This record gives sequence, structure tokens and C-alpha cells, in this order.
Amino acid sequence: MEQKTDFAEVDKILALNGNEQRNLITILQSVQAQYRYLPREILEYIAEKMGISLAKIYSVATFYENFSLDPKGKYIIKICDGTACHVRKSIPILEKVREVLGVSAQNPTTDDMMFTVETVSCLGACGLAPVMTVNDKVYPAMTPEKAIELIKSVREGAAE
Ligand code: FES
Repeated sequence: MEQKTDFAEVDKILALNGNEQRNLITILQSVQAQYRYLPREILEYIAEKMGISLAKIYSVATFYENFSLDPKGKYIIKICDGTACHVRKSIPILEKVREVLGVSAQNPTTDDMMFTVETVSCLGACGLAPVMTVNDKVYPAMTPEKAIELIKSVREGAAE
């Protein structure tokens, strides 16, 4: 699904940050919060508006791993594969979730742009392993079955 580029929204973000280069990271964070990733046409627009090179913006955007240059789904599922979660069998959860959603490590987002599946190295909740999050809400002690149920209820909730 194509999301229309709303430069008025970007103008607001730039104005809030005084259109200043030292606020570039905050500006990119706000763009990502709005669009769930950093669309190229918006980065080009920001470069022009702020009078900085696109290369500089890309170097910042690619340096921080929280920034994404690829579109993401409405729901971002993170499956932890840190040590504590791995020994408690996080991989079968990941495999099942990918299988059910038809995604992979190379293509982590569903065609309907509903879900993006990612792995993380530790969610900081090792006592609750194996852990997964959906849009940063933590779900503890997961199993492949529980994960599939959760995805089903997210889907149903989104359709209501
Ligand atoms: S290893 Fe999974 S939460 Fe820490």
C-alpha cells in the first residue's frame, strides 16, 4: 500500500526543530515515528530544505540501527534471540511466525503491510524468556502456538 507523502507534515517537524542541523537526529526520529521508516523522497526534501547533502543524511540514517530505510508494517514484531531467549527456544517461535506470515529475513514485511518481523539480540527482559514484542508491548514466555494466537488476535483487533 502506497502512503502519500505529506510534506506539510515534514514542514511541521522541521519548524518544531528550528530547521537546525544539530537537530537532524530528532528530525529523523519524528519522520520515522510518523511514517514507520524514512522514505527517500522525504530525506531528499529535508536535504533541500536544510541545505545539507543527501549523503550526510544517509550517513546518519544508516549509522543508527533504529532508523529504517525500508517501509515497515503497522505492527512490528520483535522476537528476541539473545542468549536467555535462545536457550529457551526462541528460534522455533521465529520460524513459525515467519512461516505463518509468509515472511523471511530478506523480506520481513507482509504484502499487506500489516506485520514486520524482526529479531533482536536482547529485549532486556531475560527473566521472561522467551520474549517477543508487538509494537514494543512485551509478551513473556512465548511458544510458537502462543505467538500465532497473538498474531491472530492482533489481526482481528485491527480489522474491528
Ligand atoms: S535474551 Fe531475550 S530478553 Fe534478554
